[in-house]
Amino acid sequence: MWKGRFAQQTADLVQRYGESISSDWRLYPYDIAGSIAHARAQMNAGLLSEDEFAQIETGLREIEKEIEKGEFEFSIELEDIHMNIEAALTRKIGPAGAKLHTARSRNDQVATDTRLYCRASIDRLFALGTSLQRALLAQADRHAAVIVPGYTHLQRGQPVTIGHHLLAYVEMLERDKLRLRDCRKRLNICPLGSGALAGSTINLDRHAIAQELGFEGVTTNSMDAIADRDYIVELLFALSLLGTHLSRLSEDLVLWCSAEFGFATLSDEHTTGSSLMPQKKNPDVCELTRGKTGRLVGNLVALLTALKGLPLTYNRDLQEDKEPLFDSIETLTLALEVNAEMIASMKVNEENCRQAADDPLLLATDLADYLVRKGVPFREAHEIVGQAVAAAEQGNTPLNLLDLSTISGEFSSDAREVFDLEAALRARTNPGAPSIENVRREIERWQTQLA
Ligand code: ARG
Repeated sequence: MWKGRFAQQTADLVQRYGESISSDWRLYPYDIAGSIAHARAQMNAGLLSEDEFAQIETGLREIEKEIEKGEFEFSIELEDIHMNIEAALTRKIGPAGAKLHTARSRNDQVATDTRLYCRASIDRLFALGTSLQRALLAQADRHAAVIVPGYTHLQRGQPVTIGHHLLAYVEMLERDKLRLRDCRKRLNICPLGSGALAGSTINLDRHAIAQELGFEGVTTNSMDAIADRDYIVELLFALSLLGTHLSRLSEDLVLWCSAEFGFATLSDEHTTGSSLMPQKKNPDVCELTRGKTGRLVGNLVALLTALKGLPLTYNRDLQEDKEPLFDSIETLTLALEVNAEMIASMKVNEENCRQAADDPLLLATDLADYLVRKGVPFREAHEIVGQAVAAAEQGNTPLNLLDLSTISGEFSSDAREVFDLEAALRARTNPGAPSIENVRREIERWQTQLA
């Protein structure tokens, strides 16, 4: 593609070192769409005859089919997807193919392709995020009223329900989707026409190209358009955080499926056995999700690190943007799919939940609130209940069976009523709190929103 200036061939090692076709073949549908839009603009500017344009379009569509069918032979001598497709086109149709690259550089071409790839990927991930939310919501609905301990520091804290717990993840995923949508809005402008870095002396209708490719507009500074990879950084961040949420969900599920918790059981289909220990049923999907999240974060850091020292505009370092991008997109696509399936088939063991929630210590805060209602300042109430807890522990008596009047005269006979778990949950009516009524209302809101 640049033989004019060179007397020697590129060394084999340099070809192997510099090729990107082994990963950027994924850009082919976008490269082809971009080339057709570009060629159409050339025709409209009088640079291509109608016939030449038709040859280019047909040739590119044929190449697209060949790639789809796995019949296209990619070559690393042609470095990347852009040159592989252009060379194949020229081989196919001859002189008209050689005109395609007029007023275009691989620099604006790759930026265009990558934006289109990101946009399509965001749309797919958005939909998969919604599917996972729906799976969580269905389980939340089924177990809206199943009371379990809520934890801080992984120590039992206060009562919540399985429904409330699962809806927390629906909230997280909603923020992830909003971040994706926001990222999509910002990236959806067309850099084609920015050339190598300074546009072109041959003016094509950039707005028409942008419109054909579904962009909202065109980039407004050719140097920025070529050097910019912000949209990939933003996307990799959004994906890292989405992965982090899945990872936290995974950790909750690992705990829930342990004999120590026993709150849930994953299906045989979504667990694995041990080659040695016959009894094992391991939550590998959760562990893999947790583990793969490290890679998502790594991909973000890799790109930021590649960008931080780059002068304007294109530098070959920028080619390193795509492997992390593809990896994060493909990793998360599968993660969202498998997690949605796994959640959908998860069983909640209501009896074990019930037993764990029966711990009267979960209502120690409620006992302090009882004293507050009698006029005791909270700090004092906290200390009194703390003494009660210590006495219960020393006497090996459950807190709800302790004679509270020996701890403080502020306790009357009605103090015992505090330990009614259902009533304690019913009292948590503030917006966002886990009364079953609230949880049901939230479930309805999400059902409408995700319908
Ligand atoms: N494969 C290259 C990349 O992904 C395309 C752009 C090449 N541009 C260049 N000036 N060498 O970055």
